[in-house]
Amino acid sequence: MRTETGGGSRRVQPAVEPDTNSGTDSGSRPEQPPENTAWHLIARPTGLVERDHFEVRTSRVRAPKSGEVLVRNIFLMVPASMRLWMNADDSYLPAQPLGEVMRGITVGVVDRSNAPDLPVGTFVTGMGGWQRFWVGSARAWEPLRRHPDIPLSTYLGPLGLQGLTAYCGLTDVCQPVAGETLVVTAAAGSVGSLVCQIGKRLGLRVVGIAGGPEKCEWLLESCGVDGAIDYRNDDVGTRLDQLCPDGIDVVFENVGGPVLDRILERINRNARIALCGLVSTYYGARPPAGQSPVNLMNLVNQRATMRGFIVRDYLPRMAEVRDLLTPWVLDGSLVHREEFSAGLESAPAAMNRLARGENLGLQFVYI
Ligand SMILES: NC(=O)c1ccc[n+]([C@@H]2O[C@H](COP(=O)([O-])OP(=O)(O)OC[C@H]3O[C@@H](n4cnc5c(N)ncnc54)[C@H](OP(=O)(O)O)[C@@H]3O)[C@@H](O)[C@H]2O)c1
Repeated sequence: MRTETGGGSRRVQPAVEPDTNSGTDSGSRPEQPPENTAWHLIARPTGLVERDHFEVRTSRVRAPKSGEVLVRNIFLMVPASMRLWMNADDSYLPAQPLGEVMRGITVGVVDRSNAPDLPVGTFVTGMGGWQRFWVGSARAWEPLRRHPDIPLSTYLGPLGLQGLTAYCGLTDVCQPVAGETLVVTAAAGSVGSLVCQIGKRLGLRVVGIAGGPEKCEWLLESCGVDGAIDYRNDDVGTRLDQLCPDGIDVVFENVGGPVLDRILERINRNARIALCGLVSTYYGARPPAGQSPVNLMNLVNQRATMRGFIVRDYLPRMAEVRDLLTPWVLDGSLVHREEFSAGLESAPAAMNRLARGENLGLQFVYI
């Protein structure tokens, strides 16, 4: 199921939102705790993700102790970074341990509570993992105080980590100035499309690079970019020359590889490059020695700055950025797309859609 907000499109509400008035008792229900179904990573993928990389185990959930909650996961977010966590090498998080429940960001509802701050019925977000139930410290969860007109999933997208990544990566890491030229890669994706639109609001000339004519058309028509480049079909260097006649001042990089090289060849004096991610390397496809990026010398020539960042370092600014972006979500001017699939058995396919560029926006799996 595909949905879109903003740009005059209708968004379909998630079908399985639980009753928020399900009670605020202490959670000391007499009945037995429920049975959990959990997906454990048992083998590391080297390319695409397969069902065989997981083992599904069921077990009885224990009752929450003092200060703990039992959360029922509602949906799992499927961002590109999740594939990175499956690899053997540590990234900004330790490598996902084999044999354990696959890590994942979820939205859930408190089903039983022994923590006064998180009563039963509270919607929460946290690392709930690929499983139906989670039990442990209430401090592991952030309560979601949502606006009645905003769906829960939006609090993982533009009003969650994706929005924080886009806003802080662009404004803090790149320090853009109105009138400058910004180039965004994976521009039609969840983070990239937000960067493009925030860049336009900041008065930048924005050029998005994405795979395929449909994505480019969406960037032009719905996200309002000044130019779009289809890296699968266009000559990227030629198109950059056409669309960035005054060179490139700011880059929001999500992909890496040869396209980054074409960008680096065209950066201006004092250019700023935010390294948000390198999705082309997450699937075990390391560039052959001596290949991309080869144009690092241009950072020297142009006195440019290339800086990596991790959104977790900006978590203290979440409320501020959420407050800033909420009116744009409410009036539909910040466009974002979401895709939903049903059941954890659909999660590996959702991950592979990211690898093939088949996703149109942020993907969620109903649990
Ligand atoms: N630094 C942080 O804290 C942080 C936080 C969140 C996200 N991120 C990063 O932000 C980037 C975007 O993440 P997202 O969750 O918003 O995903 P997304 O952009 O919605 O989806 C990933 C997109 O990447 C492109 N892609 C995939 N494999 C590729 C390849 N081999 N070569 C070129 N393009 C490829 C595809 O778009 P096309 O069809 O256009 O190729 C795909 O749709 C990722 O690099 C992610 O790791 C970083």
